[in-house]
Amino acid sequence: MNCRPRIRASLLASCLVLTVSSACGGGEAPHSAAVGGSPAAVVVAISDADRAAAKQTFETVCFTCHGVSGKGDGPGSAGLDPKPRDLSDKTWQASIGDEHLRNVITMGGAAVGKSPAMPPQPQLKGNPKQLEALIQHVRGLAR
Ligand code: HEC
Repeated sequence: MNCRPRIRASLLASCLVLTVSSACGGGEAPHSAAVGGSPAAVVVAISDADRAAAKQTFETVCFTCHGVSGKGDGPGSAGLDPKPRDLSDKTWQASIGDEHLRNVITMGGAAVGKSPAMPPQPQLKGNPKQLEALIQHVRGLAR
């Protein structure tokens, strides 16, 4: 029942994930990631294929500016001001929530008060597995 307020489309996925996560189990309130009032509790089952696809997205799209390891040193970074964020910066990683990552990735920098040079990926809004896998990839860049 705690799964119910979540995004309807992800209900099935939420329940599937019960086998790998206790987020909806035991009658406990799920850990709420509902920062900013949107239905942020995206609980999706991410497969190895999703992870591989997200890695590929990062290394073909995001890498242009952020670099493969996320340091902000991609080939397209030279002319940018401000520079692409160093995604490997642990302190920065700790300072932002996943909801912020979802927003900046799907809506672009301008939508969150950052540089409009950070382009939106609106197609990921309809693909929660890819979006969450990409966020995990970004999280994995922290050193
Ligand atoms: C055309 C260059 C470019 C591409 C491609 C790009 N980014 Fe960015 N990104 C930027 C710039 C520039 C900033 C810094 C914005 C600022 O500090 O105002 C940024 C910032 C960010 C931030 C930090 C936002 C914050 O609050 O500090 C994240 C996270 C991010 N990008 C993720 C991604 C991901 C994931 C992709 C691929 C889907 C991607 N970016 C593709 C240029 C790019």
